[in-house]
Amino acid sequence: MTDVREIDTGSVMTRFARGWHCLGLADAFRDGRPHGVDAFGTMLVVFADTGGSLRVLDGYCRHMGGNLAQGEIKGDEVACPFHDWRWGGDGRCKLVPYAKRTPRMARTRAWPTTEVNGQLLVWHDPERSSPPTELIPPTIAGYDEGRWSPWQWSSILIEGAHCREIVDNNVDMAHFFYIHHAYPTYFKNVIEGHTASQFMESKPRPDFTANPEKLWDGTYLRSEATYFGPAYMINWLHNDLAPDFTVEVALINCHYPVSHNSFMLQWGVAVQEMPGLPADKAAKLAAAMNRSFGEGFLEDVEIWKNKSPIENPLLTEEDGPVYQHRRWYQQFYVDAADVTADMTGRYEQEVDTTHANDLWQQEVERNMAARKPGSV
Ligand code: FES
Ligand SMILES: [Fe+2]
Repeated sequence: MTDVREIDTGSVMTRFARGWHCLGLADAFRDGRPHGVDAFGTMLVVFADTGGSLRVLDGYCRHMGGNLAQGEIKGDEVACPFHDWRWGGDGRCKLVPYAKRTPRMARTRAWPTTEVNGQLLVWHDPERSSPPTELIPPTIAGYDEGRWSPWQWSSILIEGAHCREIVDNNVDMAHFFYIHHAYPTYFKNVIEGHTASQFMESKPRPDFTANPEKLWDGTYLRSEATYFGPAYMINWLHNDLAPDFTVEVALINCHYPVSHNSFMLQWGVAVQEMPGLPADKAAKLAAAMNRSFGEGFLEDVEIWKNKSPIENPLLTEEDGPVYQHRRWYQQFYVDAADVTADMTGRYEQEVDTTHANDLWQQEVERNMAARKPGSV
């Protein structure tokens, strides 16, 4: 008799990750209005000052708790809708229009911000550190020079799951076949410092393709994806779509926690313009890819919303380094002084995909044979 293996569901997380979190496309916040963002168990207000710089403050006014997102931007300050107190981007109270004396020493929390790749990022740290500049995610080559189509950006609020679920995906080879309908033929993870990368090569599954006869035999995807910190991934996708026709795609996969059991998932797609792929076509392709990645994420979402949290997953050789990857992720949930070498040390693992692919090939062939001609 062997013991039944029980699931350890762990305990609810009590803090949010330290790191840069993307709140969305920067220009979306530059419409002259303050924006409320539910994040990190509270509400933030985002507004642009007269110079166009984006500022992020705690969303509730320190006077009587008014919601600054319902207020107005007046000059360089956000004005509370309740009694018109003015808050500057540095968090200081600049003016109480009706009072003899403004409490100028009064401050609310101002969140460190940066802009990269046309997106607004905020730094969250329960220890309130200033963000080290080397932790800012990199600029995508050519983005600032306008060589990419504008972002096609989407977001979805996921309730009933901790954001670690999406981060776990980074090392999950087999779910690409079952959930995303691709054969991963190559799969490797490299974890180091504050980054965790996934290198994957894959082919689409013809049994999940509408017109498989139209699919070029050489259709192949080479993907390099890196988390820069806990919540912001850049995925470089090289899509071989036809002989001598490779489309370069950048996919941003990022999120911010709303609560300990919900998060805002966001994804953006940009396509590199090139001869044969002028701006209008690149933009159209980006829109189509945004939709298809959206469908892919929704397939993940159905799993996350209905699964159990699990601290002790039962793994095979074909599963990626889930435990090592979670140890890496843990560095963002402890005080900076408590980050240990086993959280940040370099770790590489390549999954041998050959056995899985042999079996998957057979499964797909059976499905194709069972498929009526003309049906999907
Ligand atoms: S609550 Fe904001 S001004 Fe009074
Ligand atoms: Fe996934």
